Amino acid sequence: MMQEKQTLLSVKNVKKYFPLKVSWLKALVTKEKPYVRAVDDLSFEIKYGETLGLVGESGSGKTTVGRTLIRLENPTDGHIFFQDVDLAKLSGENLRTKRRDFQMIFQDPMASLNPYMRIGNAIEHPLKIHHIGNKKERKMRVYEILNKVGLTPEEFYNRFPRHLSGGQRQRVVIARAVITNPKFVVADEVTAMLDVSIRSQILKLLIDMKNELGLTYLFITHDLASAKYVCDRIAVMYLGKIVEIAQMQDIFKMPLHPYTKILMASVPIPDPKLKTKKFIPTGEIPSPINIPSGCRFHPRCPYAMEICSKVEPELKEVDGRLVSCHLYD
Ligand SMILES: Nc1ncnc2c1ncn2[C@@H]1O[C@H](COP(=O)(O)OP(=O)(O)OP(=O)(O)O)[C@@H](O)[C@H]1O
Ligand code: SF4
Ligand SMILES: [Mg+2]
Repeated sequence: MMQEKQTLLSVKNVKKYFPLKVSWLKALVTKEKPYVRAVDDLSFEIKYGETLGLVGESGSGKTTVGRTLIRLENPTDGHIFFQDVDLAKLSGENLRTKRRDFQMIFQDPMASLNPYMRIGNAIEHPLKIHHIGNKKERKMRVYEILNKVGLTPEEFYNRFPRHLSGGQRQRVVIARAVITNPKFVVADEVTAMLDVSIRSQILKLLIDMKNELGLTYLFITHDLASAKYVCDRIAVMYLGKIVEIAQMQDIFKMPLHPYTKILMASVPIPDPKLKTKKFIPTGEIPSPINIPSGCRFHPRCPYAMEICSKVEPELKEVDGRLVSCHLYD
């Protein structure tokens, strides 16, 4: 159990800026290259076996964080230490080999599956890519994993995605994600497109897979009730930055950052049926192209002080958690 306390992933000052296309004339006049600062200097750690939730409004950069951590995007800057190897610096064959250790599950299972590929072949695909096992061994492994995700192999192996329900498709996507025995899985809004009645089944499956296969998750969600159900710790993101990271119970019992307080105030009272509710603080989230000065939350913050528009607060320890807010200076 020692291993559980060790760090699997250590993210240091990671940035992901998307360059904006501007006319050559404008570029010549302004001499400044505009960027979408989707992820703007993030540092955090994920321990072995942990589920770290990443929550925040639409456009705050959650998906970009997930994609960048597993190098589906190239970071603009920073380090992503995965078992002491800096993924940010890997390329070519070294990166390809490492990819076996991480996977991402997206929200739309239909879009994630090739409509012309039978379920069995789709799940086997990552094994083929990574040259794992011979044909017979791979088929056995697919049967085994189909059983684990609750789909009878004899019934589902030869089906096409269109012949499955949404929940069954997401089970297939989960099976495909875990078949290579990855160490780290990014689950991005995995239940968002599913019927409310089957969301909790899919969340339970994710937890079972984690316990059985020793996975570590980054669990991205709008749905704080789901986050409460599956996460050990929660990181709250606002406009490309993490504003608070704490143990799940602490975040729900006593949020410290004003933005977290607003998010938590919009969570329904404990709900065993995991009904979803999207959090919507007042006012629009500003554009990640023109980020407000100082604390980027200041135009919407009910507690904003003079210093807030001038000085950017650092993420620092307050009561055993990390918070970036001048209220705790
Ligand atoms: N490839 C891209 N090129 C340019 N901008 C991008 C790209 N991908 C994301 N962005 C921008 O980066 C910002 C963060 O997007 P991201 O999808 O990471 O947010 P999110 O928190 O996952 O939102 P949602 O909750 O709606 O999924 C947005 O402003 C988005 O428009
Ligand atoms: S730093 Fe100021 S504006 Fe930002 S969250 Fe704290 S009080 Fe609000
Ligand atoms: Mg997203």
